[in-house]
Amino acid sequence: MKSAIIYLFSGTGNTEKIARLYKDAFEQNVVSATIFSLTSDMANVPDPRRYDYVGFAYPIHAFNAPKIVLDLARALPKAEGKEYFVIKSSGEPLKINNISSCKLRGILKKKGYNQFAEYHYVMPYNMIFRHNDDTATRMWKAAKALAPIEAAEVLRHTSHMLKGVPFGRFIAWILRIEHPAMRVNGRLFKVDKDKCINCGACAKNCPVGNIKIEGGKFKFGGDCLMCARCSFGCPTDAFDIALLNGWRINGKYNLAYDGEPEPPKHGWYCKKAYARYFARADKKIAEKAAVCDKKEG
Ligand SMILES: Cc1cc2nc3c(=O)[nH]c(=O)nc-3n(C[C@H](O)[C@H](O)[C@H](O)COP(=O)(O)O)c2cc1C
Repeated sequence: MKSAIIYLFSGTGNTEKIARLYKDAFEQNVVSATIFSLTSDMANVPDPRRYDYVGFAYPIHAFNAPKIVLDLARALPKAEGKEYFVIKSSGEPLKINNISSCKLRGILKKKGYNQFAEYHYVMPYNMIFRHNDDTATRMWKAAKALAPIEAAEVLRHTSHMLKGVPFGRFIAWILRIEHPAMRVNGRLFKVDKDKCINCGACAKNCPVGNIKIEGGKFKFGGDCLMCARCSFGCPTDAFDIALLNGWRINGKYNLAYDGEPEPPKHGWYCKKAYARYFARADKKIAEKAAVCDKKEG
C-alpha cells in the first residue's frame, strides 16, 4: 500500500480542514495518509523519505509560509529527487499569494526535493476582516468539492504549479519581515482582565507554547507565529494582539449557513479576484461532474 504524509501547520483550523479532505481522498484511493501537525519540537518529525507522497500544508501569512514551516524544511533530511506538493489556504484569492512558497521551495531544493504541485484554497479570514457566514460557507463548499479532485491529481503526480508574479521572490523576501516583527509583537499581547474567564484556552492552544499563565498572570514569550489561534479561540474576546488588534477576528464561522443570501462584507475588496476564484472552482467542479456522469451513463 502506498503512503502519504502531510506536514501541517494550521493556526485556526482552515488549513487543517483542507488537509483532512486530502487525507480522506487519499484513503479512498487506497493510499494510507498521515497528517503531522507541526509544533516547535522538530525532533520527532517523521522522515519524508519513508512516504510515497509528501505534502506541506500551511496558511498564507503576509504572502509567505509561516516561519514554522520554513523551520521544518530546514530540519528535514536531504532527499535527492523527492517530489512534494503544497496545499495552502488564505483569506483572499489575490495572485500575489502565489509567491508564498518561494522560500520553502528554495530551502527544499537545496536538499534535493522537487515541487510538482501547489493548490490554493480560499477560506474565511482569521485576520483582516470577518467574512460573513454566507461567503464563508461558499468558500468551504468550494474547497470541499475541489480538494478530492485535486488530491486525485496529486496521486497521479500531475504537475500543477502556480504562476509567479514579477519580482515575486523579492516581494516575498521583504514581507518576511513579518516573521521577526510578529515575535516582537507577540511579547506585547495583553488580556482584558474584565473579560477573561481564566479558561486558559489561549495558553493551551498556542502551538509553540508562547503563552504562559503563572499565578494568574499572563506571560508572553518571543516565539509568537501570529497564527491568531489565541484570539480566534478566546470565548470572551479578551485577547489583545497588540499592533494587529484592529484586524483581529474572534470566534468560529458557521460553515453550514443556509439562510438568506447575505451581501458580502467589504464587497468591494478584491471583488474581481473572488469572482475569478469562484468561477474557476465552479468550472473545475462542473467538469469533474460531467466526466463522472459520462462514465456512469
Ligand atoms: C498573521 C496573518 C497574516 C495573514 N496574511 C494573509 C495574506 O497575506 N493573504 C491572505 O490572503 N490571507 C492572509 N491571512 C489570512 C489567513 O491566511 C487565512 O485566514 C487562513 O485560511 C488561515 O488558515 P488557518 O486557519 O489554517 O490558520 C493572514 C492571517 C494571519 C493570522
